[in-house]
Amino acid sequence: MLDGVTLATSATPLTLGKHQVWPPVVLAPMAGITNVAFRRLCREQGGGVYVCEMITTRALVERIPKTLKMIRFAPDEGFRSLQLYGVDPDVTAAAARMIAEEDLADHIDLNFGCPVPKVTRRGGGSALPWRRKLFGRIVRQAVQAAAPAGIPVTVKMRKGIDDDHLTYVEAGLIAQEAGVAAVALHARTAEQRYSGTADWDAIATLKQALDVPVLGNGDIWEAADAMRMVAHTGVDGVVVGRGCLGRPWLFKDLHAAYDGVRSQELPSLGEVAAIMSRHAHLLVEALEDERHGCADFRKHIAWYLKGFPVGGDLRRSLSMVASLAQLDDLLGKLDADAPFPRESLGQPRGRINAPGKVSLPYGWLDSRDDDTVPEGAEMDNSGG
Ligand SMILES: Cc1cc2nc3c(=O)[nH]c(=O)nc-3n(C[C@H](O)[C@H](O)[C@H](O)COP(=O)(O)O)c2cc1C
Repeated sequence: MLDGVTLATSATPLTLGKHQVWPPVVLAPMAGITNVAFRRLCREQGGGVYVCEMITTRALVERIPKTLKMIRFAPDEGFRSLQLYGVDPDVTAAAARMIAEEDLADHIDLNFGCPVPKVTRRGGGSALPWRRKLFGRIVRQAVQAAAPAGIPVTVKMRKGIDDDHLTYVEAGLIAQEAGVAAVALHARTAEQRYSGTADWDAIATLKQALDVPVLGNGDIWEAADAMRMVAHTGVDGVVVGRGCLGRPWLFKDLHAAYDGVRSQELPSLGEVAAIMSRHAHLLVEALEDERHGCADFRKHIAWYLKGFPVGGDLRRSLSMVASLAQLDDLLGKLDADAPFPRESLGQPRGRINAPGKVSLPYGWLDSRDDDTVPEGAEMDNSGG
């Protein structure tokens, strides 16, 4: 798949504050996915930034036990990357200060991309950058609170609310002015949710507009797509979400491509089964509960098996797995020699939902410079 693709041989490490990251590849924060177990599987494949699940600022400052569990990093996680979701500049600053003072992470990413109606309806997530003063205050206060510990802050955002209400260039400039270390753009509007294709031209536009590093996000299914995005946009790094679902080895391909090597992992079904078993064991260890860990692993099964010849009964049994012994027994029934299904390469995976009108608070679009903190937009649960 990398044949004929220009490799990003002139790429440089991603500089985030005092840290240099090679290759400039980011595992996108994904609620319910990028926990300590999945991050470990991905980290073992290659270098990069591996962002934890989204953490709600209020839940963090209130020290909700579930949230404190979610921000645990493995002892060997050299660059601890934590994503915060907040709508209140003071609460976001308090969360960033807590992270700095208690040495909870090495990097803070601020989430302004969430398109979920229950969030945008209250003015949070991808609705928030429209209120540019409030957006600027949140980012500035987070940067200032994290600065004493030398913790770089980045923002992750979408193009805007919809095609008539684009915010990304202005928001990128505001974030840069506020002192962020980099800006990541998921090149879809909130209205698009996960439908259609990401607009890589918008990523190129943002790259042209900013001096700080710009990270491109959207529709990287293979290392070849990452290289194409870099060639098309000139971005300083790539952020990979759904492409690695059921395929943690994608980070090996990405690392190789950035190193100038055209190689692609194509594990057999037996090799995939071994990774699946390890993933489930790591989840059980992280969640400290076998039933809970196995239940959480179920969502990954279809992604791992996509395109492989696996009978309906076996798939159904796997999707209801309740213990590690049962999982390993069922995985043993797979045809270990089945080769990787090449036809599934480059195909979208994970969420691909239809576009939907963005719910917003009354009058939201009429007053861009109102910086009142939206009420009730702070999610009380970390992890989305
Ligand atoms: C299951 C899932 C959970 C997500 N959770 C978050 C999140 O917590 N924070 C965030 O900024 N983006 C979240 N996203 C968006 C991704 O980080 C990423 O921006 C998006 O999937 C587009 O990249 P992709 O085309 O590589 O998947 C999530 C996406 C998925 C599929």
